[in-house]
Formats: sequence, structure tokens, C-alpha cells
Amino acid sequence: MSTASNLFDPVHYAGARRPLPDATSLPPAAYYDPAFYQREIDMFFMKEWNFVGHAGRLKENGSWFTIDFAGVPVIVVRGEDGVVRAFANSCRHRGIRLVNGEGKTRAFVCPYHSWTYENHGGMRGAPGMEGVNCFDKADNGLIPVRLEQIGPFMWINFDPAAPSLDATMGDLKTRIASYSLDDLVLTRRKEYKVKCNWKVYIENFMDYYHTPTVHRNSLALGSVSAYHRKPVELEHCDGRYLVLYGKHEGTAGLLPGAKGFPFLPDLEGRSLEGSNFFYTSTCGLFGFTKDCVWYVKINPTGPDSIDLTVGSCFHKDIVARPDFEQVVQAYYERWNVAVAEDNVIVEEQQAGVRSPLCRPGRVSPMEAISYAFRKHLIDALKL
Ligand code: FES
Ligand SMILES: [Fe+2]
Repeated sequence: MSTASNLFDPVHYAGARRPLPDATSLPPAAYYDPAFYQREIDMFFMKEWNFVGHAGRLKENGSWFTIDFAGVPVIVVRGEDGVVRAFANSCRHRGIRLVNGEGKTRAFVCPYHSWTYENHGGMRGAPGMEGVNCFDKADNGLIPVRLEQIGPFMWINFDPAAPSLDATMGDLKTRIASYSLDDLVLTRRKEYKVKCNWKVYIENFMDYYHTPTVHRNSLALGSVSAYHRKPVELEHCDGRYLVLYGKHEGTAGLLPGAKGFPFLPDLEGRSLEGSNFFYTSTCGLFGFTKDCVWYVKINPTGPDSIDLTVGSCFHKDIVARPDFEQVVQAYYERWNVAVAEDNVIVEEQQAGVRSPLCRPGRVSPMEAISYAFRKHLIDALKL
């Protein structure tokens, strides 16, 4: 396919829409073409709920961090009232990005002309604006961005008309209710810059087809568990998410043979017998296993690059144990090793898919979730 003129011709996406046994992956250009990425920004990232992490990152009133999500600068801040909110990180005067990184403050002071905003977004003052007609501080607070939570996990939405997060995610909340969401403490965040398209990472995370190969010396060391070789059941999800469930002994949070913590206290049903891996719109990934929860936050930074954050969450009673810091290192090691292995393979995929000789590939029944993800995306992009 030539990419310039006919990139959005639905004929290129018909293969991804076929029933799974007949399906192909997306055209390679979907993974690098700037015009395709711009369509994703306009029709997906600017319209749907974007996962931005765990509220435990904002420990105190006034704690804030910034994220440039798909190129849109945003501040996420816990106000003096304890409420977490998001705002456009653009000054109301001449639009400059107000802050970078993270910190704690009662007020954001613009580095350009010192307009000042409270940490709940309202304008505190605008020196030099005395005598300007009809200038009202009440009209010049930071522009709000919708932020809603499921337990401690936060999503933002740039579209004021979008349905609520709850309505969008449907029964996701019910599926994860027994993981003691409100008691999950964020104990570590680890950041990576990865040179791949955001979809490459999602497709990787949501298949265990690659586990016996990519993770043969780590997660799959010694034995390939039965679920690594079974066709994936594509479950009906009542919301903008997909689930990959795997039944297994022990936890998915440790390398084989490592010792860990007791299981979460209130787990119910099949969550007691295995792990749930979730993709949530637009690009949030989660591992819910028996003794911990982790997330992979993807921030697309261009057609072929992402900022990746891996967050680790444990029950507050586990975190309070005197041996927590010692035992948790085995979990951190599991994430360090597996994420490093995935990061190598996704960058190699990006390099290969960028070739003009690359073609859409056929799809294994073990890739049912990635297959469903691609259909979900091309529906959103009207392709
Ligand atoms: S751009 Fe912020 S005060 Fe001028
Ligand atoms: Fe992996």
C-alpha cells in the first residue's frame, strides 16, 4: 500500500475486520504514518478516556505532575480540598506551558508574566491587568480537563460531551471489585522511553503467544504453563475494555520459584484461580493477579514513540509488613526483567514494520485480544 493518498481507504482495513480465522493485522503504515497518528489523536485520544496513572502519586494537597498526552500538555493536581483535578497546562494569558515535571504548590505562577493560579484551578491574580476592560479573574482560571477515577486509577477526557468514565467502562468495575481497589497503594513507578508505536505495545501486552519465546528465560523459565499454549477466549466486555484471563497456580507477579506475599484478602470467583489482564481505552494496560496489581501507562509521544510507566500496587496491609521492602524486590525484579525483554522486542517490531516491504500478517487464535483491539480502534477511526 502506498501511504500518502489512499491511507484511509477502508479496503486496507477489511482484513482486520474479517472473522479471526481469516483475519490479518493492520497495514504497516498504521504503525508509523504521521497522518494515521493524527487521525488517532483527533478521533480517539481527543474523544475517549485516557489512563493517566494512580492517584497515590499525588500524596499531599498541592501535589502535582504534568503529562503531555498525545501532545496535549496537562497538569494533574490535588487541590487544597484533597480533590484530584486536571487542567490544560497552558497559561490563560499567552498560552505558555505553566509547569514541567512534578512538585507541590499552593499556586502555579506563570514563568512569563506571573499570572497566578490556585491549585484548584481558579485564578489568584494577574499583575499588570488593572484597568483592562471586562477582565474578570473568575473567567480566567485554568481550563479544566475532565478527570474521573475507578478506585485509585485516573483517566482524563478532552471531550466535554463524552459519556462518564463509569458509563464508558461498563462492568469493568464489577470485574475488579474484589481486588480491594481503595486499599491498593502505589509503591513504585518506573519510567521508560520506548521507540515503538503505542499499538505495538498494547498488542504485545495483550497476548501471551509471545511469552514462551520472548520470556523463555524469565516468566516462562522451566515450563510453559498450559495457558500459554491455549487459544484465547474472547470474552464479552460491557465497556471500552478487553480482558485476557489466564488460570494458573501461584501469582503472575513473580518469576518462577520466587517467594512472595499472601494473596489479596477479598478475592472472589475466578480471580482466586488466575490473573486478569486488561486493556482499557484508550491505551491503559493492567495486570490484576492474586497478590498485587500493576499497570502500564502508555503516553503516545509520536507515531513511533511512547513514554511508558510501570506502576506497582500492593494492599496497604502488605505494605505495612516489616519485611515489605525486602520481599517486594522479587516483584520489582520480575517487572524489570519482563519489561526490558518486551521493550527490546517492540522496538525490533517497530523497525521491521517500518519497512516498505512489510505486509499485514495472519493472526493466531492466541491473539484474539489484539485482534479485538484493532477492530475497536478502526471502528473509532471510522475506517
Ligand atoms: S503567558 Fe502566562 S502570564 Fe503571560
Ligand atoms: Fe511480554
